Amino acid sequence: MKLIYEKSQEGRRASSLPPRSLPVPEIPDDLRREHPPRLPEISEPELVRHFTSLSTRTFGVDTGFYPLGSCTMKHNPRVNERVVNFPGFRDLHPLQEEEGAQGALELMWRLQEILAEVAGLPAVSLQPAAGSQGELTGLMLMRAYFAERGEAETRRKIVIPDTAHGTNPASVTMAGYEVTPVQTDPRGNIDVDDLRTKVDEHTAGLMLTNPSTLGLFDENIEEIARIFHGAGALMYYDGANLNAVCGISRPGDMGFDIVHFNLHKTFSQPHGGGGPGGGPIAVRDRLEPYLPVPAVVRDGERFRYDYDRPKTIGKVRGFAGPFGVFVRSYAYIRSYGPHLREMSEVAVLNANYLLAQLKDAYELPFDRLCMHEFVLSVRTLKRQHGITALDVAKRLMDYDFHPPTVYFPLNVPEALMIEPTETEAKETLDEFVQAMLEIARDASERPDELKEAPHHRPVGRVDEVKAAKRAVVRYLFEDHPDLSADPSGARQLEAQKGA
Ligand SMILES: Cc1ncc(COP(=O)(O)O)c(C=O)c1O
Repeated sequence: MKLIYEKSQEGRRASSLPPRSLPVPEIPDDLRREHPPRLPEISEPELVRHFTSLSTRTFGVDTGFYPLGSCTMKHNPRVNERVVNFPGFRDLHPLQEEEGAQGALELMWRLQEILAEVAGLPAVSLQPAAGSQGELTGLMLMRAYFAERGEAETRRKIVIPDTAHGTNPASVTMAGYEVTPVQTDPRGNIDVDDLRTKVDEHTAGLMLTNPSTLGLFDENIEEIARIFHGAGALMYYDGANLNAVCGISRPGDMGFDIVHFNLHKTFSQPHGGGGPGGGPIAVRDRLEPYLPVPAVVRDGERFRYDYDRPKTIGKVRGFAGPFGVFVRSYAYIRSYGPHLREMSEVAVLNANYLLAQLKDAYELPFDRLCMHEFVLSVRTLKRQHGITALDVAKRLMDYDFHPPTVYFPLNVPEALMIEPTETEAKETLDEFVQAMLEIARDASERPDELKEAPHHRPVGRVDEVKAAKRAVVRYLFEDHPDLSADPSGARQLEAQKGA
């Protein structure tokens, strides 16, 4: 397919503007561009065809199964979009005075109450814009808490398991703490013996997702909480995997003191293209004074922002947070009503249904029931036939499935991390199983076909190393002569008008 620049024809336009009726302002020469911008010149039908055909070449949860482990790519109910487009929500200005925004404030307050109940912790801030920002905010709360106790300088370490998502160590470093890694034991839990040697009076806390990125619930979580609290440290729950336990078990009851939610995962939100996300945090009451401002509070029948929090860490995001995300998440939660736990129950059921059918054809590093996702290894196929996790992932695209997460977590070689979510039908799961089993068979019978996959996608196998090291993410104008340098100057004039 040609780039839009390659379709450009001098003087062609997608719109015609009315003649100017206002005087043209005088722009000083030194502020003028030397050349008009090189914009594609194209007619409206060609423009529509170009972008429509591009849109059919991409893949999303609306076009097919998207079992991208840890990302919770579930269906986004259309009712959420209808609700978020109510003019009272859509057209609200963030600086609207409180009297004119009571409905929006009430929605945020109600969402806070629900999240507090789900977390099992009493106080919530909706502000952080994503899970990773929730992590950073939570660590800033820890710092503020220990600073007030005179322990900010002694407590420097945060313990993180070797299965952790990359944002965890990144947030720890960004917050000025040091990472202390802890190993995973043969059942896929945190290795408690290793942990005991790592937790002391210099430890500020633990950062853990439970279930872990292996899709396994840590069987020793209460013991782990005792170890940390016994040492005066705090427990942080990375809620990216909350889809496994929502309404069933609560991080606060497990012993966690701070929790972040990934609203865009657990409570549905179009994501995967970079946003928008939502990463609210919930905390135990002793951490509440440090939460970001403003808090959304209720006074009788009225709702308002509360800035009067002398110990707050301040603001972590503009205005009150990603409001459209709040509306969609609230709508999603309310559609389940008191049956919210069904969401997680079906997510766990779907994952175990897949696991049971795939574990013999692939290697299962930790042979246990999984939660909402599970991790397989392609190590045996690699040893026997030279087929890698990447080959399996690419071949799945030929079956119209988005590949699972690959090569993560790092402690599983040739990892495939599969998360079906609760919104997939049994027939879809069955088709996915068939594809995975066929691929495992083809590994021995037709290995070359796998190594060259995908065969039926708009883009074939790319050189990933070259793509990473020499990424070309813009049109290389220098490779294409600029015709606006045409001595007649005619083209330049056209382009200026269009611009
Ligand atoms: C386990 C885990 N923790 C944290 C994050 C970070 O969340 P976000 O992408 O919302 O910043 C992710 C995201 O994929 C994750 O999978």
